[in-house]
Amino acid sequence: MPQPRILSGIQTTGTMHLGNYLGAIRNWVELQAEYDCFLFMADLHAITVPQDPKTLAENTLRLAATYIACGIDPDQSTIFVQSQLPEHSELAWLFNCITPINWLERMIQFKEKALKQGENVSVGLMDYPVLQAADILLYEPDLVPVGEDQKQHLELTRDIAGRLNHQFGKKKKPVLKVPEPLIRETGARVMSLTDGTKKMSKSDPSDQSRIDLTDTPQAITKKIKRAKTDLERGLEFDNPERPECNNLLGLYQLLSGQTKAAVAAECKDMGWGQFKPLLAETTVEALRPIQAKYTELMDDRTYLLSVLADGKAQAQAIATPTLNKVKTAMGFTLSA
Ligand code: AMP
Ligand code: TRP
Repeated sequence: MPQPRILSGIQTTGTMHLGNYLGAIRNWVELQAEYDCFLFMADLHAITVPQDPKTLAENTLRLAATYIACGIDPDQSTIFVQSQLPEHSELAWLFNCITPINWLERMIQFKEKALKQGENVSVGLMDYPVLQAADILLYEPDLVPVGEDQKQHLELTRDIAGRLNHQFGKKKKPVLKVPEPLIRETGARVMSLTDGTKKMSKSDPSDQSRIDLTDTPQAITKKIKRAKTDLERGLEFDNPERPECNNLLGLYQLLSGQTKAAVAAECKDMGWGQFKPLLAETTVEALRPIQAKYTELMDDRTYLLSVLADGKAQAQAIATPTLNKVKTAMGFTLSA
């Protein structure tokens, strides 16, 4: 029996932070023993907002190194670069022609990003979820593990697959498989250090709001020391009045690998002065091996490039036949 398949990716913009690690990459690491994982660097998604050509490729390589440093094993999983497979763009075009514009106008992430960009909103930014649908459906995965913020894009992907099957498939023989999202409870939303009601995000203008995976121990300690808290004594999960408390305890739970109950018991009588150094040390120690491996990988480009070349070939072996299947169903049947 072949293993069930997983597909996921992250945009190649900015440095990765704890939210990306705990909400996304770490889950993939756990899943790779049981699933055949296809994990890619979404560099075509990155250019939906302006990118500097001088750093575009470097960001892709950095993200690849981050995947591997966090525990994605290239011998077990397929790691590849989105832009190296023209299949993604081509399928996105085919999907564009069957996707109603008002499906895209509803996308929350688009509305938020468009608002931030003001006048300068590209067609690509709006079309982003269609490209994402192509990324996913090309590999006919069983599951797509993502953070909670991607739920709406996954629903759209399922709608596009459904529409394509309805318009071009036969009743008993759909063209494309409709995948399921996989959204984990824990880590699904890591919040900002400066505002416990806002997601930790690479686009937050304040560097203080997030912990980057490449932050030095000193920077991590300083950011945690300055993190927003409250005046209550005793620490607790799930009190809606104390979003920062819930978030920092949650981080401690995930990074120390303990259960929620154990952390709740350990911290219930603590004050912030006692908890913050504990969280800082736990974070530094959890990131130490990842940072060491990352540095080692970035010093060995030949190796990284060879992983990506293998990944491309393995990905293409799945993506090309799927694209051809869709083209045939839509009537592109002339052959040379
Ligand atoms: P992004 O940084 O928005 O490109 O997201 C890359 C991946 O990390 C996606 O799967 C997100 O759902 C996940 N992610 C980003 N920020 C967070 C966060 N604060 N908490 C949990 N997951 C996150
Ligand atoms: N939109 C995703 C994000 O911002 C990245 C992404 C692009 C993705 N294509 C994907 C995630 C396909 C899962 C599957 O995180």
